[in-house]
Amino acid sequence: MRHADDALNTYETISDSWITRSEQIDIEGLYQPVRDLLPPPPANVLDIGAGTGRDAAWFAAKGHPVTAAEPAARLRSAGEALHAGKAIEWSDAQLPDLGALGAGNRYDCQVMIGVWQHLPEPQRPPAMKRLYELASEKGRVVMSLRHGPGAPGRPVFPIDAPATAELAKANGFSVLRSVLMPSMQEWNRKEGVEWTWLVLEALPR
Ligand SMILES: C[S@@+](CC[C@H](N)C(=O)[O-])C[C@H]1O[C@@H](n2cnc3c(N)ncnc32)[C@H](O)[C@@H]1O
Repeated sequence: MRHADDALNTYETISDSWITRSEQIDIEGLYQPVRDLLPPPPANVLDIGAGTGRDAAWFAAKGHPVTAAEPAARLRSAGEALHAGKAIEWSDAQLPDLGALGAGNRYDCQVMIGVWQHLPEPQRPPAMKRLYELASEKGRVVMSLRHGPGAPGRPVFPIDAPATAELAKANGFSVLRSVLMPSMQEWNRKEGVEWTWLVLEALPR
């Protein structure tokens, strides 16, 4: 049976070329579907499943204080080296509980790009609840939801975008945007991978 940690294990041994490709993604194009909904700096940003820190560095360069949560040590250490000297605090916090984050931390903007497909269904409700706990007043969450096959050997679980939006609403969020986009990466496009971009906003407690 596939297990959530199977995907994480593949990131622990990910190739140097994957890291290079990840860093080369056109970040302005990546965030184009949600750019207008990102908060102005300085906003407390939490990048969950931050990978190599590409997005964390982009937010830091705009003047946001950023926490990059990345459970895979291989990616975390690559990111720390690639983005040394930038205003990024690294953490090994892992969904669904993100327990390694400081108690009482609140974030104006949580981003989770290409991560939700690695969470098995039973972990999604507690993860969504946790996102709401971590959100500041009117805090936003930006998630990209992968549809289609995973990379060879890396487990992914199907995502129903409307069900994800409903789960968010049941946990205290309003949905500001839900938009389906083609993949930016050639291999993914050939395989028919598409992404739903969701932007959530925390309703008052
Ligand atoms: C496709 S990569 C995306 C990385 C990065 N967000 C980006 O856009 O380049 C998926 C990321 O999710 C992370 N991940 C997998 N399971 C996770 C979990 N349970 N909690 C947090 N991150 C997880 C992986 O370690 C990996 O960094």
